[in-house]
Formats: sequence, structure tokens, C-alpha cells
Amino acid sequence: MSYARIQGTGHHLPKRVLTNADLEKMVDTSDQWIRERTGISTRYLVEDGETTCDLAEQASRKAMQAAGVGADDIDLVIVATTTPDRVFPSTACLLQKRLGIHGGPAFDIQAVCTGFVYALGVADKFFRAGSSRRALVVGAETLSKIIDWTDRTTCVLFGDGAGAVVLEASDTPGLLSTHLHADGDFEHLLTTRGGVSEGLPDGADTAYVHMKGNEVFKMAVKTLGRIVDETLEANGLEKSQIDWLVPHQANYRIIEATARKLGLPMERVVVTVAEHGNTSAASVPMALDVAIRDGRIQRGDTLLLEAFGGGFTWGSALVRY
Ligand code: COA
Repeated sequence: MSYARIQGTGHHLPKRVLTNADLEKMVDTSDQWIRERTGISTRYLVEDGETTCDLAEQASRKAMQAAGVGADDIDLVIVATTTPDRVFPSTACLLQKRLGIHGGPAFDIQAVCTGFVYALGVADKFFRAGSSRRALVVGAETLSKIIDWTDRTTCVLFGDGAGAVVLEASDTPGLLSTHLHADGDFEHLLTTRGGVSEGLPDGADTAYVHMKGNEVFKMAVKTLGRIVDETLEANGLEKSQIDWLVPHQANYRIIEATARKLGLPMERVVVTVAEHGNTSAASVPMALDVAIRDGRIQRGDTLLLEAFGGGFTWGSALVRY
């Protein structure tokens, strides 16, 4: 059997920075409240006209360069996004065109903040089935487009960005296991009001994010705790064998709770939430690339990637880098 191994990574942030001080001028909030409750100081936002595919393209080019591969080498493109450029074609097809990749399957995955972990899980199955030899897997978002910038309970949390990995076929597993879950009974915790087929509520010009923050917090801690156990058990690993936790960057306190569950000191956790905010499907691949490029994550290290999000969805990937 052939397995997937991470060959190269990349990430891209838009230029515009929105600080907590900027938000203080927009809604009734404070830098102190945001930092204490979430750990976030800044987030990056696209300019008008800048799209999810623009961010995905930049991140992908960096990942392909790091992997030393060209467009002709890629036989599968998966983009995890909740904020596609268009209803259709998929952002993956738009990205394929930008990068000059032709012929192989290209599709989007929509699992909100768990999207990138879902995309890795799906890509892994392509490799194990012998259907892909080299894949581009991307998490890219312009969440700022579906944020109600007058709602202080959500607008302080989110940002835009993209992260990408190139996976190559290998005789030994890089993706050791992936674990994907969802429970639609909890869809109301984190959702948009309306959409393409339901239509929009009166007066709304887009389908804005709506969240029961407190309940999401509790659900996140509970499901992530469970998935840590599930992942370790499936691989016959002890907690101490995890070198790095690369978590979804939603809230510093949620990240800390998962690290505690793993018995990992925070020095072994990749944390980008302070600078990036919550970039949904982009958060895990961006954090991964940051820690690979600054030399913290080394070849041979064992990484636990995890995420949770709207759906309610949650998942993990155990990776030997
Ligand atoms: N600035 C100042 N005050 C705010 C605020 C803001 N941006 N947002 C909410 N508040 C207020 C609330 O109105 C509430 O006021 P009240 O006590 O007078 O009613 C108070 O702060 C506490 O609100 P609460 O929602 O209980 O705070 P919290 O400690 O749960 O923190 C979150 C709120 C959103 C930071 C936290 O619940 C969270 O991070 N949840 C998970 C969200 C998440 O991860 N989402 C993404 C999933 S992928």
C-alpha cells in the first residue's frame, strides 16, 4: 500500500492588519477583553476584490516551491473552504486553472473550521487506494466576508488566510491516521443565518456567522478531549510520544485545554491565534507551515493536528513529518 507524506508546506496572509485597538473603534469591546477571553491580538483581512482563491494560490505556490514540484506533478487538488469565490465552479477548480494543473480531480470540502483536517482525511484515502501520487491540499478562507462587523460576539474572533501542503506517495506513512466526526444535531451552535437555497433573512446582504460562543467552547473542549484519546488509541501511542500539537487556532484557552489533556507543555504546542485570529479551515495548515519554516517541527517528528467547527464537526490527523 502507498501512503501520503508531507513533502512541502506554505501559507499566505493578506496585507491588511486589524488590531484589537481598531476593533475598539468599531464595536463595544476592549483589547483586554479580547486578549483575556481568546488570546487574539491581531488578524489579517483581505481588501475588497481579493478572494479566497487569491490567498490559496499564494499559499500553494509556496508549498509547491518548498516541495520542489511543478504543476504537472500534481494529480489531485482539494481545497477546504467555507468562503468559496463562487457558488461554482469550486475554488479547487479555479485554483487548478491559476496554477496550470490539468486533468486530475479537483474539489472543495466544506467542514468549516475542521475543513483542512477533513481534506487531509480524504486525500489520505486517495493515497491508500493508489489513486493519487502527489496532491495539493489547501485550507483557505475569507471569513471576513461573512462576518457581521457590528456583532462584537463574533467579529473579534475571525481573520483571513490560506495554508497549503503538498502530499507525496511514500512506502511508509506520513499520515498515520485521520479521524473525522460530525453531529448535525448541534448545527445551531455555529451557523450562518440563511444561504443560497434558504435565502437570506430580511435586510441581510449575506449569510452572516452566528455563534453560541459559550456552548461552542464547551463542545470543543469535550470533542477534542475525546479525539485525543481516539487518535492515541488507534495508533497504540502514549501521550509522551507526541512531539507537537498543531491545533485549530480558535481560542488560546481551548488550545490550552487540549494541551493539558495531552500532558504537553505549551512550548510543544504551535500557537498562532494571537497573530492570525481564527482563520477557519486555513488555521491548521498555516500553523503547521509557520512551525516548519521556523525550524521547530523537524523531519521525523510526530504531530497531532486537530480541529473543530460548525456542523458540529471535529477531527484529527496523526502525522509523522
Ligand atoms: N467584547 C466585550 N464583551 C463581550 C464581547 C466582546 N467582543 N463579546 C461578548 N461579550 C460579553 C457578553 O455580552 C457577555 O456579557 P454579559 O455577561 O453582560 O452578558 C460577557 O462578555 C461574557 O460572554 P460569554 O459569551 O459568556 O464569554 P466567554 O467567556 O464564553 O467568551 C468567547 C466568549 C466567544 C470568547 C468564547 O465563548 C469562545 O471562544 N467560544 C468558542 C468560540 C469558537 O471557538 N468559535 C469558533 C469555532 S471554530
